[in-house]
This record gives sequence, structure tokens and C-alpha cells, in this order.
Amino acid sequence: MKKLIKNGTIVTASDLYEADILIEGEKIAAIGRNLDESAAQVIDAKGAYVFPGGVDPHTHLDMPFGGTVTSDDFETGTIAAAHGGTTTVIDFCLTSKGEPLKNSIQTWHEKSKEKAVIDYGFHLMISEVNDSVLAEIPKIIEEEGITSFKVFMAYKNVFQADDETLFRTLLTAKEHGALVMVHAENGDVIDFLVNKALKEGNTDPIYHALTRPPEVEGEATGRAAQLTGLADSQLYVVHVSCAEAVEKIEEARKKGYQVWGETCPQYLVLDQSYLEKPNFEGAKYVWSPPLREKWNQDVLWNALKNGQLQTLGSDQCSFNFKGQKELGLGDFTKIPNGGPIIEDRFSILFSEGVKKGRISINQFVDIVSTRIAKLFGLFPRKGTIAVGSDADIVIFDPNKERTISAETHHMNVDYSAFEGMKVTGEPISVLSRGEFVIREKEFVGKPGKGQYLKRDRFGSAKKPAEQVR
Ligand code: URP
Ligand code: ZN
Ligand code: ZN
Ligand code: ZN
Repeated sequence: MKKLIKNGTIVTASDLYEADILIEGEKIAAIGRNLDESAAQVIDAKGAYVFPGGVDPHTHLDMPFGGTVTSDDFETGTIAAAHGGTTTVIDFCLTSKGEPLKNSIQTWHEKSKEKAVIDYGFHLMISEVNDSVLAEIPKIIEEEGITSFKVFMAYKNVFQADDETLFRTLLTAKEHGALVMVHAENGDVIDFLVNKALKEGNTDPIYHALTRPPEVEGEATGRAAQLTGLADSQLYVVHVSCAEAVEKIEEARKKGYQVWGETCPQYLVLDQSYLEKPNFEGAKYVWSPPLREKWNQDVLWNALKNGQLQTLGSDQCSFNFKGQKELGLGDFTKIPNGGPIIEDRFSILFSEGVKKGRISINQFVDIVSTRIAKLFGLFPRKGTIAVGSDADIVIFDPNKERTISAETHHMNVDYSAFEGMKVTGEPISVLSRGEFVIREKEFVGKPGKGQYLKRDRFGSAKKPAEQVR
């Protein structure tokens, strides 16, 4: 049956207006005033904003890491995402050296296919570049529609790749139309600082932050940006946490390099002092890059406002405090790195950003949805409200006040990184390709309903530079 969303205020990255939305099947069929409501199920959105569904470009669901596996898988993670206003996630498919890339992709398909409740795609980790990897990449882009590759510049002896690998990935991406993503921290220097701290008997969670200072992030970000310029390629820096990294991105963009930057809600509202919480609770806030001194928050907000940073990812990578974070009792290097963020990304950006006047409501939509869809080859299918786009829609009460808490969240994890934080605004109903996933705040979707998304190549849209810059 057709659906008609009436009386709401539609907000896109460029507009805000009152109109009805007619949904036929999975797509938006018409937008206009007083659309014919006969033969349609009417959804009243009076007093609500009607946003395109959020696109989360950075999740780690069902991922083995730090001697354990993330507590949220594709089912619990995507249910929580949907509650939070996100209708698409792009998850990182890990690979292993010497193993065909296609095997890893198969593993990720198996993790997700019967479980996801919203649509999803994969980025592919590149840990080495050799003849067999180079032979596989064009096929993966073509057949799997995986058009973004992730290179880790940190996590020495685990995920870290060397500069030759990064540079050759940049060249390959340029040739075949993909976007290279980097985790930008200098893993060698971190490794030295970590060993030094342990030798000196410094084992508390705070040393996670103190051994990964902002300079190592700034250095790696600058290095990746320079290599991107040299390769005349394209780069997306994930989870930017500090002024040092923002400066390097800005510098590169001023030179005309195609470099984009993502930050995450945790860096916008939390700071390094959280790692000093007593009774090992600091471990709840251990992820990489670490939380920074508080003044960096203003730098990040300004960067979002001024366009030096363009997107918000969650970097969802949840581990329970009990039994998982606790693996690092007495040794901060054994605390699994990551936090539960997927559910709160959209609302925190709205509440702290729009409600507090730091960004406009159109910027909000761009940062949380549209720009991400454009960069990662999903636009205009995802990321906007337009005739012909997927009916991925969030009906959002902008005035509802509530308190974030593990008691009420839907992530499969025993704490909230934002416990007690008051936010204004809440997703009320969420549709994925025309079907309710969340209806009046209750989950009504079904595991396995989420579809795998083959994405377009980087730059395949008509005017890529104008469209995404
Ligand atoms: O600590 C984090 N961020 N864990 C997830 C993996 C990554 O580096 O993004
Ligand atoms: Zn990372
Ligand atoms: Zn991550
Ligand atoms: Zn619920």
C-alpha cells in the first residue's frame, strides 16, 4: 500500500519546506502539497521534521578485535542505528595478509545477511598490496560495488600497513574509482611510547591517551594527505579528533587536494578527563584516536561549520565493560579499543549542533547523511528526500527532551558513553525503503530485511568535485 507522510517539515541539505511525501513501494514517488490521500496509508508528521535517513559511514559490527568480538552484531547494531535515525551503515570488512580479499568479503556477507534490519555496505581493509591484491581490486569494485578502501596507519603488528601500501592503494583507487580511507595515527611512535609507559609501570586507562598524543594524529594525517596529493588521488580521514589533524586537512584542501575529514560524536562532547574516571571506568572511554583536551571540541565544531570537516561517523565498536573492557585491568594496552555510539550519532549532532546554534539544520542533514551518501557512491538513492530516492525517512520530534542512558538504549552493551547526557530531539518513526523499521519509537522491522548496497565508483556522478566538495 502507498504511504503518505503529511503535515511535516521536510529538511534536506539545501531546503526546508512543508510538503507531503508519497511513497510507492520502496521509493519516494511524489512530493507536494495536498497530495491525493485516497488509497494511501496516511502518516501524520505534524510538528515533526522529516529528514532523510542518516548514513553512518563508519561502523564495526561483529568485529574481532583486541582478543574479543564487538558486543553488537549486525542485528543489534542496526536495530540500535534505526532507533537513532540511521537507515544505512557502511561497515569495515577486515582482511588478513595472504588471504584472498574475496574470502573476507564472503565472511562479512555471512555476518550481515540474515541480520541487518537496514541497508548496509562494506569498506574493504587493505593491509598489503601485491600482484594478487591488485588483480582482485577491479573485480571487487565491479562485482561487489565496494568503492572505498581502508588503510590503517596505526595498530602496529595488528592492522598497520606501511607507507608503500598506502601510496599504492591511493594509486589503485585513483585508477579504478575508489575512495581511500585512513586511520591516521603514527603507529610506530605510539608503539614506542606505549612500551615506555609500560616499562615505567604506567598501566591505567589514561595512559591510552597519553601514549597517543595529538601530534601522532596530526603527523599521520599530514603524511596521508601529502601522499594523496602526490598520487593525485582521493582521501577520507576517519575519526578526526584534534586540532592538529584538522589543520592538516585544511592545509591539503587549500592546496586543492581531494581530502575529506570525518569526526565522531564522542570527540564533540567528551574529553580526555573521562579516561581518569575511578574504578577502571576510564576503560569505557578507551578508543583510538583517544579523547582529547576539551578545547579541541570547539575546533571540531568550527571545522564542521566551516566545511573543513564534512561528515560524522559513529566509529561504533562496542565492548561490554564487564568481561570485555575488563580484559585491560592492570594493563591499558589490553583494553579493547572502541565505544558504543551508533544509536546517538544523529541525535547528538542535532541537539548539540542545531539546537545550540553551532550548525544550521541543512548542514546537519549534509553532515549526517547527504555528504556521506555522495562521497561513498550512494547518492541520490540514499542521503536525500527526492522523487526516485529510496524512502529512507526519519520523522523527528525536534523538541522532545530526554536523557541518554544504557537503561533505555538498544545497543547490546552494558554502558552508555553518554550516560546522563540531556539531548533535545528524538526520532519517532523511521522508514527503510518505504517500510517502518521504527514506529512510534518501537522496533517493528525484521532481521534480514536490510539489503546489501553495491555502491557507485568514486567520481562517477556527473560533477563529482562540485557535488562533494
Ligand atoms: O578504537 C577504535 N576506534 N576502534 C575501532 C577501530 C578503529 O580504529 O576505527
Ligand atoms: Zn580507526
Ligand atoms: Zn573505526
Ligand atoms: Zn524500543
